[in-house]
Amino acid sequence: MKISSEFSKYALEYNTYNIIQKKVVKKLLSKLNYKPKSILDLGCGSGALCRAIDWKYDSFLGVDFAQGMLDLHPKSKNIKCIYGDFNDASLFENLARYEYEHIFSASSLQWAQDLESVFKNIKSLNRPISLAIFTSGTFETLNKTAKLNPLLRSAGAIKKLSEKYFKAEFEVLKYKLEFESTRDMFRYIKKSGVSGSRNVLTYRQTKKLMQEYPLNYLEFEILLIISH
Ligand SMILES: C[S@@+](CC[C@H](N)C(=O)[O-])C[C@H]1O[C@@H](n2cnc3c(N)ncnc32)[C@H](O)[C@@H]1O
Repeated sequence: MKISSEFSKYALEYNTYNIIQKKVVKKLLSKLNYKPKSILDLGCGSGALCRAIDWKYDSFLGVDFAQGMLDLHPKSKNIKCIYGDFNDASLFENLARYEYEHIFSASSLQWAQDLESVFKNIKSLNRPISLAIFTSGTFETLNKTAKLNPLLRSAGAIKKLSEKYFKAEFEVLKYKLEFESTRDMFRYIKKSGVSGSRNVLTYRQTKKLMQEYPLNYLEFEILLIISH
């Protein structure tokens, strides 16, 4: 499995809590070997993928279960957003009625309750895929320092699962995001949504973790699953 690494510095003044998600979208798009004319985006959020597409397309369908995110998503006569939960099989029956040539999902499927069922349902739509899924190497040192088990599945486990359903290429992306202070780092974790709102640490435990964390950067690990 190919592994690529990148290092960046976090710039607080830009308030870019989705800096890693934006990089992931860019990477996913760079892996395409054609320009799909109609697109489905599962877990579209506020539209990072839609905003990053720089070619003309006929239709873009974004699906998310957070109405607040859908409200922020760009909309136009060829961009449609619908409410949908990818943990719910009926979403995929509904999606079978729409037109799309390619299925994307960026930084969302790590929250699937039963990833195998979601893969199975995506497979049933029978289209090429570009999926990016956060994996257990995300916040690796942080979890070790706090003696927490990783919240996310490992890249290897996801790859194995997806091989049951897709003939795909895999790549692991590793990002390091450097911060000026631990305070900025922990604020980022809280606001970025990458932690899945896991509030397992008390105030005192968080304070201790902030003192003991040995790095000035956070680690992120993402598995790309791509089929053409
Ligand atoms: C980290 S954001 C990524 C958003 C966007 N794809 C991007 O690349 O910036 C994860 C998104 O997945 C959505 N999401 C999480 N679980 C979901 C589910 N079961 N069904 C639909 N959307 C879901 C969240 O609401 C959120 O918008």
